[in-house]
Amino acid sequence: MKLPRTVMNETAQPRYSSRRPSHRVFHRYFPSMSTVLLIAQIIGIIPISATLLFILAKLVSHHCCSREQDGSGYAVLITGCDSGFGHLLAQRLDQKGFVVFAGCLSPEGAGAQSLVRQTSTNLKILKLDVTSDEDVRRTKKMVQDNLPEKGLWAVMNNAGISDWAEIEWSTVQDFRSMIDVNLLGSIRTSIAFLPLVRATNGNIFAFFNCLNMGAYSVSKRGLEAFADCLRVEMASFGVKVSIIQPGNFGQATNILKMKSSLTIWEKLDEERKQIFNQSYVEVASEYFMSMCKAGCEDADPVINAMLHAVTSAQPKYRYLLVPAMDVFFFKIKILT
Ligand SMILES: NC(=O)c1ccc[n+]([C@@H]2O[C@H](COP(=O)([O-])OP(=O)(O)OC[C@H]3O[C@@H](n4cnc5c(N)ncnc54)[C@H](OP(=O)(O)O)[C@@H]3O)[C@@H](O)[C@H]2O)c1
Repeated sequence: MKLPRTVMNETAQPRYSSRRPSHRVFHRYFPSMSTVLLIAQIIGIIPISATLLFILAKLVSHHCCSREQDGSGYAVLITGCDSGFGHLLAQRLDQKGFVVFAGCLSPEGAGAQSLVRQTSTNLKILKLDVTSDEDVRRTKKMVQDNLPEKGLWAVMNNAGISDWAEIEWSTVQDFRSMIDVNLLGSIRTSIAFLPLVRATNGNIFAFFNCLNMGAYSVSKRGLEAFADCLRVEMASFGVKVSIIQPGNFGQATNILKMKSSLTIWEKLDEERKQIFNQSYVEVASEYFMSMCKAGCEDADPVINAMLHAVTSAQPKYRYLLVPAMDVFFFKIKILT
């Protein structure tokens, strides 16, 4: 059967040639197969190279970070060594060969004396109340006069107090006391010792945490702002500033000062007593106590972070020591 020419031609010709015109149009608007393959290869290469570069950067940074600062010949100053994190860190840095100036509120107290027994003669106990200009001035003189040959490597602003109360149950004086130790104490110490730390391109550390306790949170947020400003200013001098931010380690240290709901109740004026009845205060107190009991009992994660901050060539800006879920919420809070 004869087919119409056009149709026959079509059938007589290989299929591709019958599509040539449209194929050319396709080519005009779209790259050839080899170009597509080339682009695909490039697209494939970019993530692979990026991944390799990322791994390389990580390896280099890990190599840098894993280079530990050797303690010999260097000194560190830690405030609040009577107990808790400061007390434990003083022991660990002493073991690493640093000359440790351990600031204690009560040099004759049990905490300071146990530190003396457990450490080498390189550790010096100094009386240091961070709210006292006079103590800070005297401590600076003492440190300056007893510096090892390489100088002061780090200042750990660790001294701190905590309290809990709803804001309305607090007085301005409660806020003032908290700020005086947690915020102004760190500022006072940092300003005094900056020239010594700058000389060694060393480190300054601040502690803070927000446990939804009004006065405490205000003092620690202020400290965070101070640390961030100081980090930027000190960068050109090669001085690193880090924030150590533990979550709830209330069971690992002496930071939580217990107070009964009755103590809070008795402190309230009549107006407040009308607004908050006694059982409200009791529930709030029970909640706080349950939070305290849930605190981590092991201080090691915090001490290890502090050690990393002091001894690593690349200390982090912030050491956030909280459960993974809290890190997630923390990041969301920063972004919103
Ligand atoms: N533990 C936690 O869950 C947690 C969480 C986040 C942040 N932090 C922070 O970590 C730091 C260390 O606290 P910690 O948990 O180890 O509690 P801690 O055991 O109570 O240690 C705090 C130390 O600071 C001392 N101190 C208090 N007032 C001072 C002052 N005016 N001058 C000098 N030293 C003073 C305390 O001396 P006394 O023992 O004689 O009072 C104590 O030795 C604090 O800044 C705290 O806010 C702790």
